[in-house]
Amino acid sequence: MKRILLVGNGAREHAIADALARSPQKPELYCFMKAKNPGMAKMSAKFKLAKLDDFDALGEFVKEVRPDFAIIGPEDPLNAGVVDFLQTLGVRSVGPVKDLARLETSKTFTRELLEKYRIPANIKFRKFISTEGIKDFIEAELGDGFVVKPDGLTGGKGVMVSGEHLKDSDEAVEYCRKVLETHPSVIVEEKIEGEEFSLQCISDGRTIKATPPVQDHKRLLPGDQGPNTGGMGSYSYTNHLLQFLTKEDVLEAEKIVQMTCDAIRKETGKEYKGIMYGGFMLTKDGPKLLEYNARFGDPEVMNVLPILKTDFVSVCEAVINGTLSEIELHFENKATVCKYVVPEGYPSNPVAGQKIELDEANRRALIFHASIDQKDDGLYMTTSRAIGFVGVADDIAEAEKIAESAIKAVKGPVFHREDIGTPELLDRRVKHMEAVRGES
Ligand code: GLY
Repeated sequence: MKRILLVGNGAREHAIADALARSPQKPELYCFMKAKNPGMAKMSAKFKLAKLDDFDALGEFVKEVRPDFAIIGPEDPLNAGVVDFLQTLGVRSVGPVKDLARLETSKTFTRELLEKYRIPANIKFRKFISTEGIKDFIEAELGDGFVVKPDGLTGGKGVMVSGEHLKDSDEAVEYCRKVLETHPSVIVEEKIEGEEFSLQCISDGRTIKATPPVQDHKRLLPGDQGPNTGGMGSYSYTNHLLQFLTKEDVLEAEKIVQMTCDAIRKETGKEYKGIMYGGFMLTKDGPKLLEYNARFGDPEVMNVLPILKTDFVSVCEAVINGTLSEIELHFENKATVCKYVVPEGYPSNPVAGQKIELDEANRRALIFHASIDQKDDGLYMTTSRAIGFVGVADDIAEAEKIAESAIKAVKGPVFHREDIGTPELLDRRVKHMEAVRGES
């Protein structure tokens, strides 16, 4: 029986655990978690609670459970070098070594890689290590449309966009000054118009395989209003495209990820084994890269792994053994809608430690636990996204209804975005893309 170590304890890792547990190989799961995810704890042969970068605790757990391989869920342990550490213990991982996790942790590394290897998805950008020259660059090269990105991890909340968060180049310089107090550099890049989509690809260092494209919703409030969050929900379509996205667009994005995988190998001499999640903007000139993440998306993984028909344990082994070219990924032709419930006041002032109650009505949807604490008398929210509810159905309208009706039955001081996956919002996306392409 295969023994698999899973690092992380959010809804993303719960969805990974669920995909592993569906394997006909019936692996034993060993979870290394910062907090007890109730769903994952139930599936574990054994779990250990410790900080995810506590390598002493991880080392002891590894010696005890002797895993055949590991899967790393979140970006922070990748950034801390968990894959390199596990290698010293003879454990191979689905997840890149620290140097290659720069694909996510250093926006500069990625933009410069794309530039050097002429990967046709880059946009106009410049890296700054001081505020000198920022105002001139914006005014001379970018005009009114610019984006500022800290060079490092920010939990998806550090990106500031002109017209939304920043009024003009002076405000951009001020924001950069603040960023440079805690980050080595900052990237200023052009703002591009279009519709965003996530293409989560699996890489063995030579071959990449794409999962169906998904669209996430970063803004807190209906109609894409309010502050950015980690992602309030996401959807995917039965035909593995999105309404505004053609097969050619998806193949182009896949080509870009494959070229990036090859470029990393040429640049560093190392093979990228793990998830290459391309965050793309579909523009009138095709897909352009916004950023890469070195792990599955949260919530986007909840759209793709539940419909994966291929044995996920075999997929992970192919990543580690470099044999991904020999297997096909098959997905059910189902639509999915994921909606997160979050504590009232999230993200700036969340109510903490409040009870959340589920009953049978919630089980119409798949349930993935995120920032949830299990106590003797029930489930309590911490301060972040609490539970992802996923509807899976033959069409997106039905998937949306499943997620919505399950979430409406939750009891507690919670909030969610009712509009995700609804016909009105989907239609708006299509109309927006038509306008961007100059078709309306
Ligand atoms: N949903 C965005 C992310 O996982 O980074």
